Amino acid sequence: MRKHIVAGNWKMNNGLIQTESLIVELKKQTKTSDAEVMIAPTFTNLWHAFESTRQDDIEVVAQNMHFAEKGAYTGEVSAGMLKSLGIKTVILGHSERRAYFNETDESLAKKVDAALANDMRVIFCFGEELSDRKAGNEEAVVENQIKNALFHLGADAFKSIVLAYEPVWAIGTGETASPEQAQDMHAFIRRTLATKYGSEIADSVSILYGGSVKPNNAKEIFGKPDVDGGLIGGASLKAEDFFAIVNAF
Ligand code: G3P
Repeated sequence: MRKHIVAGNWKMNNGLIQTESLIVELKKQTKTSDAEVMIAPTFTNLWHAFESTRQDDIEVVAQNMHFAEKGAYTGEVSAGMLKSLGIKTVILGHSERRAYFNETDESLAKKVDAALANDMRVIFCFGEELSDRKAGNEEAVVENQIKNALFHLGADAFKSIVLAYEPVWAIGTGETASPEQAQDMHAFIRRTLATKYGSEIADSVSILYGGSVKPNNAKEIFGKPDVDGGLIGGASLKAEDFFAIVNAF
């Protein structure tokens, strides 16, 4: 049975005070679904968030990491350093990192390998630009992103991989993909996995949707058969909205 997961990607939005107050509000919420709940604060708040949620059913995850174990990479953080904090899951390949920090499928493949080598779970992000979709190329773009970064892996690795389809045109825009668009792409992704690794592996991988998920659209999107949860940006910054999404299953 695939896991339902709802992860809040806080991006670069919360300092220590805001992190603490949001965690206090999150603790007041009640989870009524079977979804795994994750929050992704900035590096500077990881330890505090991890310590503050030790007794809660909330996993603290990292928003990124470097592929090297250590070395002359000013400003970077390694998988081993995240592990030393108790962090077990890392988001990789977010479209903002691809756009602003020149992350490529190839460099992401190295990060995925480093995360798996450190027994971490990866939430691997990908998705097409609006121009790709307008040209009818969305499936080809997504297929290449997945194949180039993940298809060197053995089947067993997918026990530690969560996929997150985030159409770039839906991120932060309020232009959510329709539930049908999300389902169509998730089903395509699952077929692509099945072709390479077989249906048992493909059916076991959680595929999250991200891109303007809100309390008023989450239920319909999560109700689609190949949507296993969401990667939430803006709506994760308000505890009530985030848990309305967590409880949308
Ligand atoms: O990683 C999730 C994020 O990219 C989605 O952002 O604000 O559209 O929910 P948002």
